[in-house]
Amino acid sequence: MIIIANWKMNKDFKDLERFMDSFISLQSWEAISDLKIFFSPSFPLINEVRNIINYNSLNSKIRICAQNCHHEIDGAFTGEVSVKVLDSLGVSSVIIGHSERRNYFNETNDIIEKKISNCIKYDMIPILCFGENLNERKKGNYLNVIESQVNILNSFKKIDHEIILAYEPVWAIGSGLTPSLDEINEVHLFVKNKFPKLKILYGGSLNLNNANDILSLNNIDGGLIGGASLDPYSFSSIIRSIK
Ligand code: 13P
Repeated sequence: MIIIANWKMNKDFKDLERFMDSFISLQSWEAISDLKIFFSPSFPLINEVRNIINYNSLNSKIRICAQNCHHEIDGAFTGEVSVKVLDSLGVSSVIIGHSERRNYFNETNDIIEKKISNCIKYDMIPILCFGENLNERKKGNYLNVIESQVNILNSFKKIDHEIILAYEPVWAIGSGLTPSLDEINEVHLFVKNKFPKLKILYGGSLNLNNANDILSLNNIDGGLIGGASLDPYSFSSIIRSIK
């Protein structure tokens, strides 16, 4: 089971230290054997997350995940961050194609494919997000939309590299709405049938009340959590609720 805290553009340096102090003391680390926790802070906080993990000898339990990377390895791209830099900071995975990046930064499938390819070159795990918006869900063509997003991975089918998928229905992100368990299961099964070897996470308004039910579904390998991962008590309770 993989649980990722996607902090998005939240938390400054002090918030991070306060969060980590509380979170680390709340967690019973021995009980966590099959669970991998990934923290996905904004770029400038990555190094401090790494320091805290090292200081507390939690390298086997906590990984660092970046929220994005540029689609080139290096070059004249002012303000951007490449996988080469992330790799040198001990980052093990990168969230790629989050709907906020697709919608606000016009990320296309071509760009997303390049980013995945860069992650693979640097031996980092790409976490490919996919999911339909409300209109697509209502029109009933959501599986076609999802298929076109995940089909990017057909170019990597022959590559034996770990890739993780994350189903994040756009309408469930930050809205407090979640699909029913049957709706989640339908999508996960559909994608599992296409990529049986890949792990698929669910994300979108996961919280303490729904996490155990959603994460207990058969075809779910973990969760990608936004809002409910910002508070150490809430995030820690979610982790402790997972059976
Ligand atoms: P929320 O958990 O806040 O809905 O965000 C989900 C998400 O976008 C994680 O990547």
